[in-house]
Amino acid sequence: MTKQKTTKRGSIEAVGEDLASLDIAREKRRRLRALYPEVFGDGKIDFEQLRRVLGDQVESGVERFGLNWPGKAECMRILQQPSVATLKPVREESVNFDGTGNLFIEGENLEVLKLLQKSYFEMVKVIYIDPPYNTGREFVYPDKYASGLSRYLAYTRQIDAEGHRFATNTDTIGRYHSNWLSMMYPRLYLARNLLREDGVIFISIDDNEVHRLRSVMDDIFGEENFLAQIAWQGMDTVKNDAKHFSTNCEFVLCYSKNKDLCRIKGQKRTQHHDRVYKNPDNDPRGPYLLTPLHAKSGKASTRYKYTFSNGVTWEPPTGTYPRFSQETLKELDGDDRIYFGEKPGSVPQRKTFLKDVGSYTKLTTFWSYQFAGSTRQSNSELSHILGPGAFQNPKPVKLIKLILDSVSEQNDIILDSFAGSGTTAHAVLALNKEDGGNRKFIMVQLPEDIEESSEAYKAGYKTVADIGKDRIRRAAAKIKEESDDHLSLTSGAGIDLGFKVFALAPSNFRVWDGNLDETGNLEDQLLAHIDHIRAASTPEDILYELLLKAGFPLTAPIKKTALAGKEVFSVEDGEMLLCLEKELNQEVIDAMAKAAPRRVVCLDEGFKGNDQLKTNAAQTFKSREEDGIVFTTV
Ligand SMILES: C[S@@+](CC[C@H](N)C(=O)[O-])C[C@H]1O[C@@H](n2cnc3c(N)ncnc32)[C@H](O)[C@@H]1O
Repeated sequence: MTKQKTTKRGSIEAVGEDLASLDIAREKRRRLRALYPEVFGDGKIDFEQLRRVLGDQVESGVERFGLNWPGKAECMRILQQPSVATLKPVREESVNFDGTGNLFIEGENLEVLKLLQKSYFEMVKVIYIDPPYNTGREFVYPDKYASGLSRYLAYTRQIDAEGHRFATNTDTIGRYHSNWLSMMYPRLYLARNLLREDGVIFISIDDNEVHRLRSVMDDIFGEENFLAQIAWQGMDTVKNDAKHFSTNCEFVLCYSKNKDLCRIKGQKRTQHHDRVYKNPDNDPRGPYLLTPLHAKSGKASTRYKYTFSNGVTWEPPTGTYPRFSQETLKELDGDDRIYFGEKPGSVPQRKTFLKDVGSYTKLTTFWSYQFAGSTRQSNSELSHILGPGAFQNPKPVKLIKLILDSVSEQNDIILDSFAGSGTTAHAVLALNKEDGGNRKFIMVQLPEDIEESSEAYKAGYKTVADIGKDRIRRAAAKIKEESDDHLSLTSGAGIDLGFKVFALAPSNFRVWDGNLDETGNLEDQLLAHIDHIRAASTPEDILYELLLKAGFPLTAPIKKTALAGKEVFSVEDGEMLLCLEKELNQEVIDAMAKAAPRRVVCLDEGFKGNDQLKTNAAQTFKSREEDGIVFTTV
């Protein structure tokens, strides 16, 4: 899952050389400046100048077209707030931690998406999410934005549990739709940043919010990037006790990041599709499909009469128009690709040969339960893996496999930030098994508590994240067992069936809290900052935090080496060297500079107040600045 070195360097530069999480507003300003340098003066944006540059397409009236709700402005503020968290490696829950390219991140997805912004900026090909539908029954995570992480810690009982529980967003608590929109907006906004330019996002949703979700998506992705609203027939029965209609469809909204760059391959061609290709005149090129030469729409001025080489004359029937130009008809005729029928007077049609059709055919926007699976099937699918009742209404693997297969190529990264029972990860593994691909997944799931009375709790699961991880382990084991090939758990040799687990946690570096309330103790905070690394943090915890903040993927290859007798971590073949020793010396500084990495990181504590050593180190690396080495202490 590592990026090309050149791209990686580009991305580090793009996000600035500091070790903070991505500053989204700064990044947007940087892009604006690259496009319109003339509107920046003294580091500030001249709005009047921008208005002039953009011409008359600027909306300046008081009344504007667009989606608005109480809380929208706050969403923008919140998503720009940098995260003060980290992702802590959890080796004991992972499978093949050091060799896999797959990730399972346990945590609150707004915070996690913020943390992934630098390392996965424009790296994800497909996002599939299945968020809460806002039916009034499922929970909506209580975003009290200013204290995102502390709320999460309270919720997960990592700090005082003052009843920071989930709340269901019912229509009696007011701001029903606004709450949901405020939950979705920042997450979709951040998710879009992670999509590649040719990337595509699919979102499951039902009647409750589909129209509002489309408006939000138009807002964030642009209505020109709308691709489809797929109706999925998830219910395979009729509910006769329904009051008015028995709803049997929900939707999958599909948007591209850039419609001109994305490619929807469609669905794999099957024998079922091939059955419609026939060969009535025993054409040596094999079976073909017939298409009329006329179309229902067109312009009257485009009508013409055409005489083929065998003397048959054709013109579009009244009220229709030619489907092809005269030149195309001439080419088709010359290439013997017109079928004139068995009887004289038959209408000529174009032949499309099966041998010329690729291995994929177009998808339609209605997916039946036979085609994409049903909720009933997925419930039974999951109970076979985890036992009955482990998770209510997961999506069918078949549905997500179809989605992934329609756009992803073999080495793409797939993200699901509302992972639930981990169906998307399961679908990635199953698709890789089917076509020998090496797609990688990133799952994000809140450790949502499981009801003690539930079957899942009785089976030993405490949170939904536990269910997701176990499902992936079991699905992987099954794939391995069923496979004829020799599958290795090692990435690169066979299918990568492992995954690395990370958990959202407070930064390993104590963050200065400038918002001390009246109970906060300034003296305590000052003392705590003398040793600003948390006592419980391991070198590996610190290593991964620095990796993320320097913009490397969490699966970047890391080698532990020794330089001048000190332990040094080398990331991506020496792109970055980290020495987290608490006692540094000149020899290790010289050895790291000699290795000519892009970046060197040491702990401030490593200089142990040895100002001379620190000054020398700064000078050593300053003299190497022209070689592009950046030296940082943390
Ligand atoms: C509808 S379920 C997804 C089901 C999944 N597609 C499957 O097939 O199993 C939505 C999941 O999103 C999770 N979730 C809700 N809010 C979240 C948040 N803020 N961060 C992370 N996960 C969240 C819920 O815990 C729930 O498990």
